[in-house]
Amino acid sequence: MDGGQNRAAKLAETVLGHDDKNKAAHTDIANPDRDGGQWADSTGEKMKALAWMGKNDVRVIETSKPRIVDDYDVIVKVTGTTVCGSDVHLMHGVIVQVEKGDILGHEFIGVVDAVGPAVTKLAVGDRVVNSFCISCGQCEFCKRKLTTACEKTNASALHAKLFGSRMGGIFGYSHLTGGYAGGQAEFVRVPLADNNLLKVPQGVPDEKALYLSDVLPTSFHSVDYTGVKEGDTVAVWGLGPIGFMACYWAKQRGAKRVIGIDNNWRTEYARSKIPGVETLDYSTLKSGETVPSKIHEMVPGGVDVSIDATGGEFGKGLAHKLELKLGVEQDTSEMVNECLYSTKKFGRVGIIGDYVGYTNHFNIGALMELGINLVGCGQSPVHKYWEHLLELVENGSVDPTIMLTHRYRLEDIDKAYKLQEKRGEGLVKCFVETRFSAPRAEGTPELTTL
Ligand SMILES: NC(=O)c1ccc[n+]([C@@H]2O[C@H](COP(=O)([O-])OP(=O)(O)OC[C@H]3O[C@@H](n4cnc5c(N)ncnc54)[C@H](O)[C@@H]3O)[C@@H](O)[C@H]2O)c1
Ligand SMILES: [Zn+2]
Ligand SMILES: [Zn+2]
Repeated sequence: MDGGQNRAAKLAETVLGHDDKNKAAHTDIANPDRDGGQWADSTGEKMKALAWMGKNDVRVIETSKPRIVDDYDVIVKVTGTTVCGSDVHLMHGVIVQVEKGDILGHEFIGVVDAVGPAVTKLAVGDRVVNSFCISCGQCEFCKRKLTTACEKTNASALHAKLFGSRMGGIFGYSHLTGGYAGGQAEFVRVPLADNNLLKVPQGVPDEKALYLSDVLPTSFHSVDYTGVKEGDTVAVWGLGPIGFMACYWAKQRGAKRVIGIDNNWRTEYARSKIPGVETLDYSTLKSGETVPSKIHEMVPGGVDVSIDATGGEFGKGLAHKLELKLGVEQDTSEMVNECLYSTKKFGRVGIIGDYVGYTNHFNIGALMELGINLVGCGQSPVHKYWEHLLELVENGSVDPTIMLTHRYRLEDIDKAYKLQEKRGEGLVKCFVETRFSAPRAEGTPELTTL
């Protein structure tokens, strides 16, 4: 998405009108210094934050500490954050309605610094982790804990127009999902905080609890919603943190075979960390071989479940790379087609990687003719899973640090984006410390200065 398309998105929002009527919190405050600085803390205190400054340009800037805006707000002093594969899509500008100066980051952990007068469950000093999606707690979907479908936390009219109906708000993820400031910062405003922060027990270090905000619930959602069960055969496209942990959960549920697919060193990393996982490095395929042909060779008849944990911007062949570049499609269909071809007739396919719009050459025939069940998609409704997952982290059933490879400083987070993009220096998932962080937890990666 180039600057022109982003401008067009802004224009569309102006024409469609912003839907402010139904919202439960103030939206579109992606930096406390915007709108004449009216969202800044009255003390004038400054903080560091990572901001989107243009396509492929993210920078650590100085801006004001945020203030309580709504009665249900909390200000969190951030003690840990990270970079997600989704942030890289934002950096690339493939998500519309991101604006210059917007603070990014939808995964953070910290300490409650200030509470609004209507907050009842939290107090200053509590250790908390956020949910990447922002829930109102009252609408039909939030009541069912399908919180990424919240009806009251995203005022983007364009979102509703593009997708038929609108999803809920997300921290630090463009005005298409509410324009909230993100947590790749020293402080962050959390709207409707009683719903969107989970208290972290003292025994669980930041380096483990942080990932309850996204990676753990997202990867869990991908296997839960596709119904992975004992004895299943499962293939997962993409071995970034999401696909890697999806393989982990599939194994934990007793899947008979789990095959992780990627084209680089991450295949080896997955094998070294998840006992029994098999991998397929498609860069080593011989002429005439394809990912689906190889899957059928490994599992005759195809797998029960395929999970796409890649993302629509990753064009594979020349045709799609070109079509993406020219803007004649927003997403490639290559990985979803590979999922369809690799799945057993009447099996299940789930899409957990991010897709944002139209795609060309999608083989709808394969979906229909083979009776494939397209299930297990969507932005993960964190609230449905996070209490259960915290229990698993606390009792040691899952150790999220198996995907944690690096520790960086907030001052270097712009460089961490570039490493995440290139899958460089053995980076799977990082922990980013701030000046408020506790000393590094034992057994977790040492600090690397970039
Ligand atoms: N649905 C949700 O709630 C949710 C939440 C978080 C992240 N995401 C999305 O999930 C996806 C993965 O996130 P991540 O943090 O693991 O990202 P990542 O970029 O670290 O990992 C993606 C991996 O996919 C691999 N890949 C690319 N093309 C491939 C192909 N054709 N076949 C197989 N592998 C391929 C890459 O080499 C990379 O290792 C991203 O699209 C991200 O935006 C979705
Ligand atoms: Zn994410
Ligand atoms: Zn809601």
